[in-house]
Amino acid sequence: MCGIVGAVAQRDIAEILVDGLHRLEYRGYDSAGIAVLNLDKQMQIVRRVGKVKALDEALDANPLLGGTGIAHTRWATHGEPSETNAHPHRSGNIAVVHNGIIENYEELRSELQARGYPFQSQTDTEVIAHLVEWELRSAKSLLEAVQKAVVQLRGAYGTVVMNQAEPEHLIVARSGSPLVIGLGMGENFLASDPLALLNVTRRFIYLEEGDVAEITRRSVDIFDRSGVKVVREIHEGNFEQDAADKGQYRHYMQKEIFEQPVAIRNTLEGRITNDKVVVDAIGANAAQILKDAQHIQIVACGTSYNAGMVARYWFESIAGVSCDVEIASEFRYRKFVTRPNSLLITLSQSGETADTLAALRLAKESGFMAAMTICNVASSSLVRESDFAFMTKAGVEIGVASTKAFTTQLTCLLLLNVAIGRLKGNLSEEQEKHIVQSLQRLPAQIESTLVFDKAIEKLSEDFADKHHTLFLGRGEFYPIAMESALKLKEISYIHAEAYAAGELKHGPLALIDSDMPVIVVAPENDLLEKVKSNIEEVRARGGQLYVFADHDAGFSDSEGFKTIVMPKVDEVTAPIFYTVPLQLLSYHIALIKGTDVDQPRNLAKAVTVE
Ligand code: M6R
Repeated sequence: MCGIVGAVAQRDIAEILVDGLHRLEYRGYDSAGIAVLNLDKQMQIVRRVGKVKALDEALDANPLLGGTGIAHTRWATHGEPSETNAHPHRSGNIAVVHNGIIENYEELRSELQARGYPFQSQTDTEVIAHLVEWELRSAKSLLEAVQKAVVQLRGAYGTVVMNQAEPEHLIVARSGSPLVIGLGMGENFLASDPLALLNVTRRFIYLEEGDVAEITRRSVDIFDRSGVKVVREIHEGNFEQDAADKGQYRHYMQKEIFEQPVAIRNTLEGRITNDKVVVDAIGANAAQILKDAQHIQIVACGTSYNAGMVARYWFESIAGVSCDVEIASEFRYRKFVTRPNSLLITLSQSGETADTLAALRLAKESGFMAAMTICNVASSSLVRESDFAFMTKAGVEIGVASTKAFTTQLTCLLLLNVAIGRLKGNLSEEQEKHIVQSLQRLPAQIESTLVFDKAIEKLSEDFADKHHTLFLGRGEFYPIAMESALKLKEISYIHAEAYAAGELKHGPLALIDSDMPVIVVAPENDLLEKVKSNIEEVRARGGQLYVFADHDAGFSDSEGFKTIVMPKVDEVTAPIFYTVPLQLLSYHIALIKGTDVDQPRNLAKAVTVE
């Protein structure tokens, strides 16, 4: 959550910083601010409530000139979104921006107040500014002051500190919130995500946990948590040029829905032959671990958790290995028993979700045989801290609502299932070939679904005045219903719930009346007859049914009953396939509701705080 950008250059950098904030806005968007040192070495700070656009407009009216600066877009944790709570926070010559949460801020605040520091904001961040100012009084440099300050902080931070008295220096510190340094020619940059800097550089250094770095125009000096100077690898970024460009699309979410065929093709590339999964592509030394694994424990949050829930059905039916799936924020705080030879798998788009990362760290001390991650960001903490990573190749996902990350996670999970099934002797060559060929057909099948966009847009009109929606599914389609309900609620603000269709009569049936839309995912499969009975239970109570099915399922439209007839696809890939029209439905309903599709209220893309 929150986005940070900073620069030390000879040219004016305000525009670069604001461009970076726009690119990071998906991480938090309730207020934004910038601090720039001008040619007279005076610090100028501008902060605005609302989106980066408001800051942009303020700077258009009163441009800031100067080559050293820091900027921030905020997702409020401590204190409401307001100008006073927006970053940067200042203490004397010091200005600070920060991502994360300082857990001992109340204690530090009392100590600093006792030393005479007046607090302006309700934020935890302001303690960092005063603490550095305090330490600077006895330190030889800003670097030393920051090093002394950060050891007193508990919690998670990625922070950048600027000192009016050392105009061409920025000090950055990382512990729990990612920070990256962008290398330029005679100028250097930093950000919480390399995406922010793609207009100025493609060369990056990722700071590691506990690192503190001093950045000037010509140098980058990094010190590890014990203060020893270290050299970190330089990565040449291989980013899609147009990741932050919406192109012909109105929203990032729409673009990312339509990118799914390509994202899945990319995820399959190099991982399958004509009839087999390439096990080595899953990770160096993965084969032995996958073969020996007797249990799979998946841990994730949100959409990634829903992907895990789909995969649970696959692990037990395809790979032939038991599987539990748990929400990371629950897993990390309960006492659990680790089963023998249990493989931990974290699922995450960002690789920075605080709860998932904490669960991984806990699991590493809890007797799991190994920790694997399925993740979309190669440089992320989850990838770096796991024993091996199987990357989704979704490309940068900017819309807060996760779409292509979900379908590529499912693609990876299906590949993994086939690999384990074969290694354990639970899957025949014929079965493997069938799944591999189903996956090969999937991207083109999804392309054909996207053609339904107009029909789904029309359907969405039925939801214009709705306040609740129920989603139903059985088997793998139950978690697809969960994911669809999550999508609808997060972008349209319609209350949506998903139920395993068989659970209907155990309570939720009481909700059914003529004002309750019920969306059912019901392709032809072994459970169809059971789903049909559940559909009848809804119909008998006057519920408004919207059934996504294929022709073989044999539904047709009638009063209070609309069918969305999809092409017939292979059963094994059907959960991935049916996700897409349901994403489109949520998207169009959100458009009708007039919500902010890419940046829904109260949310942020990467949830790097608890
Ligand atoms: O980056 P992650 O996959 O770990 O994120 C987990 C959730 O925060 C995320 O999936 C969230 O639920 C999405 N906004 C859902 O669309």
